Formats: sequence, structure tokens, C-alpha cells
Amino acid sequence: MKNFLNISDVNSTELRKIVEDAKARKSKRLGFNKSQVDNDKPLDGKSMIMIFEKPSTRTRVSFDIAIKQLGGSSIVLNPDGIHYGKGDESTKDTARVLSEYADVIMIRTSSHKNLEEFGKYSLIPLINGLSDQSHPCQVMSDILTFEELKGNIKGKNLSWVGDGANNMSHSFIEAAVKFEFNLRIACPKKYSPNKKILKWAVKNNTKIKVTTDPKEAVKGADCIMTDKWVSMNDKGDKKKKKKILKNYQVNQKLIKHAKPDAIFMHCLPVGRGEEVTDDVIDGKKSVVWQQALNRVHAQKSIIKWCLD
Ligand code: CP
Ligand code: NVA
Repeated sequence: MKNFLNISDVNSTELRKIVEDAKARKSKRLGFNKSQVDNDKPLDGKSMIMIFEKPSTRTRVSFDIAIKQLGGSSIVLNPDGIHYGKGDESTKDTARVLSEYADVIMIRTSSHKNLEEFGKYSLIPLINGLSDQSHPCQVMSDILTFEELKGNIKGKNLSWVGDGANNMSHSFIEAAVKFEFNLRIACPKKYSPNKKILKWAVKNNTKIKVTTDPKEAVKGADCIMTDKWVSMNDKGDKKKKKKILKNYQVNQKLIKHAKPDAIFMHCLPVGRGEEVTDDVIDGKKSVVWQQALNRVHAQKSIIKWCLD
């Protein structure tokens, strides 16, 4: 049984298959209505359960549309309305019970450990819809978006500016290893990536660089990326964190150091005027709406891969 919890868990060949499958399936849908079922209906009669411990717009809707396009159905559960994580039913038992009802499960959680615990007992594939540690589905769909616009990501220069210690940054580090692109991360020392993830990445790919200088990170970049300065799971002093990150804003001055045809990516939701200025996110280089759409297409192929 295959879970999709971290990009680092899956080998490069399989990850490449997922991205190519997403491109192929997307191109076969040209002219289809948004929720029209794919001709081959690979998930006919199958269903997916989704549990959201945290708010979500894109992940919730894009997974729902993804499963519909594959010919299946979805059930969204609110943790407050079920016996989940409150101590009256163990994760083990919840995982075992839900395995009887559906074919695949997606969880957005504050605790990656909880996800791993659930995965240990689930009899059906489990997908990480964002945890405090990683956001693999978003990054897979960002690779799809990058390749639609810029071709094969191998050897390309991607730059991450801002919070280097969050889930998106970690999944990009893992993706840099698996898809062999160059990744430069600019972040304050305090918000450097998780040491264990970085160590694993450096061991497997020497083309990852962490710097405190945003200009150095974006120099010659094909793509500049950032994310909210304060993530859903951040518990510390938000004002203080924003102050430390204030020199890491992606603005017109900074993007001048990238390649002239560089693109700007952001997983959304965005803190406008904080990690990025309006003129960048609404400007010509920004591909954020295509990123949002591609969540549907990448996740379809992730679901299919899990069930294959
Ligand atoms: N990018 C992303 O995962 O957005 P949501 O939090 O809206 O799901
Ligand atoms: N790093 C952000 C991503 C949101 C999709 C967060 O965890 O809040």
C-alpha cells in the first residue's frame, strides 16, 4: 500500500511518473467542463475521505474536484464532528474504521507525527494535505506548473525567499533532490530549514544553498517563490517574526536580480504587502492562479498513484 506523506519517501522515477500522468490527463480534458468526469473514470465506485484539522480553501476544493473528475466521490470530515484526536477514540481505531468505508484518505494536520501514526494503522492509502512539516501535494503541483511554463525542471534555478523553516520550504528541499533542480533559499538564520531535512538533502544533492541574502538567492533564478511569513501552525510571537522577515519581501527591486523571464510562484493564501508586494503577485511574472488550478491535476495523479 502506498502513502503520500513526503516527497522524500517516493523515488524519483515514481514522482516523475506522477507529474507526466498529470500533464497527460490534463491535456485530455481540453474543452471539458470543470467537474466533468474523465473518459476512463479510473475511480468509478471509489471514494476519498478528507479530514481538515486546519482551514483550507485550495486543498479542500481541488481534492474534491480531483476525485469527481476521476469518477469517484468524496466525504469531508470536520474533526470536531467526529471521534478524532479528542482522546475518546484512538488514532489507531479511527484509522482502522475509516479504512472500512473509503478507498483513500487525505488529512491536513497540525502534527506530522499524527499523520505518521494514522498511516501506520490505515489499511487504505493516506495523503498528506499539509502538515507542520511538509506540503508535498502543493509542491508536486508547483512542479507541474513550472514545467508547463519552463520545461523540465532538472538543472533549473529555483529560489525561495522568506521563511525557510516552513512546510513549503521543506517540501521544496525534498523536491530539489528528487527532481534535481538547483535550490537557493534566502532566510534569516532563525528561520533556517529543519536541520535533519537539510542534512538529508545536502547528502543527496549538493545544489542546495541556504543564505541570509535574498539578492544572492534570486540571482539568475528561473523562478522565485515565497510563502506567508506566519504559517497556520506558527505559535510564537507573530509580530516579532514578521519584523525579522521584513527584509525578505519579494518586490520589484528584488526580482530584477532574477532572469528577465523568471516566474513568481506562491502557494496562497498570500500576505499581500508582507512577503510579496501587490505589483509582483498581480504582475506579469506571477503564475499563482495556474498553480491553484494545477492542484486539481497533480492531486488526481497522486490519488491514482496511491491506488495503483
Ligand atoms: N495552498 C494551500 O494549500 O491552500 P489552502 O490552505 O487554501 O488549502
Ligand atoms: N506555510 C503555509 C502554507 C499554506 C498553504 C501554512 O502552513 O500556513
